[in-house]
Amino acid sequence: MQEDVSKLRNEFISRALSTENKEELEALRIEFLGKNGRFTALLKQLKDIDPSERKHVGELLNETKKVLEDTLSGQQRENEQRGERGFDETIPGIKPPIGHIHLISKAIDEISAVFENIGFVRRRYPEVEWDWFAFESLNFTKLHPARDNWETFFVDTPADPKLGPMLLTPHTSSGQAREMLEKVTLPIRMINISKCYRRQSDASHLTMLHQFEGLVIDTNINFVHLKGTIDYFMNSFFGPNRKSRLRPYNFPFTEPSFELDISCDICGGKGCKLCKQGWLELGGAGMVHPNVLKAGNIDAKKYRGFAFGWGVERAYMMKSGLRVPDIRMLNSTDLRFLTQF
Ligand code: DAH
Repeated sequence: MQEDVSKLRNEFISRALSTENKEELEALRIEFLGKNGRFTALLKQLKDIDPSERKHVGELLNETKKVLEDTLSGQQRENEQRGERGFDETIPGIKPPIGHIHLISKAIDEISAVFENIGFVRRRYPEVEWDWFAFESLNFTKLHPARDNWETFFVDTPADPKLGPMLLTPHTSSGQAREMLEKVTLPIRMINISKCYRRQSDASHLTMLHQFEGLVIDTNINFVHLKGTIDYFMNSFFGPNRKSRLRPYNFPFTEPSFELDISCDICGGKGCKLCKQGWLELGGAGMVHPNVLKAGNIDAKKYRGFAFGWGVERAYMMKSGLRVPDIRMLNSTDLRFLTQF
């Protein structure tokens, strides 16, 4: 009898522990503890047992019954938590993926920090802008091709009588006149970083791109200040091993105007498939045209300035050595691409 009780108890416990829901557990209860259950049958045998043993066996059966009932209620809780609510606190948690700052945002932060070190102030001006700020104030002629519908996105809204049509600004230079007009005191040392929009989209051009525009206006500003600032930026951002050069160019808003090239990091300036004879183009720069100062309400006889406007994506790619087959990938949301950086 005692052996039967312990066997039954062990079987009950091991089967109870492997149940997963209420129904299985209830079936087990009926099988053992129901009116015609196997454990109940043992209880019923108690009266036939020799009176000398009855007390002892009775105690054993009572204890066992309690164990079976405790097992039932414990397992019932366990099943509720695990199976029925889908929660098992012993399963290791799923770590949420930890994101990171997008590489363009990182580049913007870094560029801002480099210029803030030498007293520039980070500014942002509207991306939806009037023609006057984007072109007119910058000395563009009426028929300049950048003003064409095929180059710039115009907004379908009535033109302002003074400021002309509304557009998505194609460059951060539109912040120049805004800075001059809004600035209460001189000198100006601004770094304007924002999005720009152009009618272009191919492997090396983005419809929405970022530029950073520097503008410095003070008395006695000359070309050496521009060159010094460029050298400082090149050294801080790209490191001491890259060289830069200025090529004469033409922009309506600067005189003289230059394009800035940086030595190619792939071939070290010797010339390779990726660069133009060892040089990569970064953007434009020059001394602010007096007409631009006038548009900004600044006395062109007393003050002078220099400006530059370069692409964030381009600068970042030249710094990191990142070669993507298509620059548009930088704007993709594909995590397989983004998590690599
Ligand atoms: N805005 C010009 C562009 O998008 C770049 C540029 C050239 C900006 C010369 C400047 C500058 O400030 O001085 O192509």
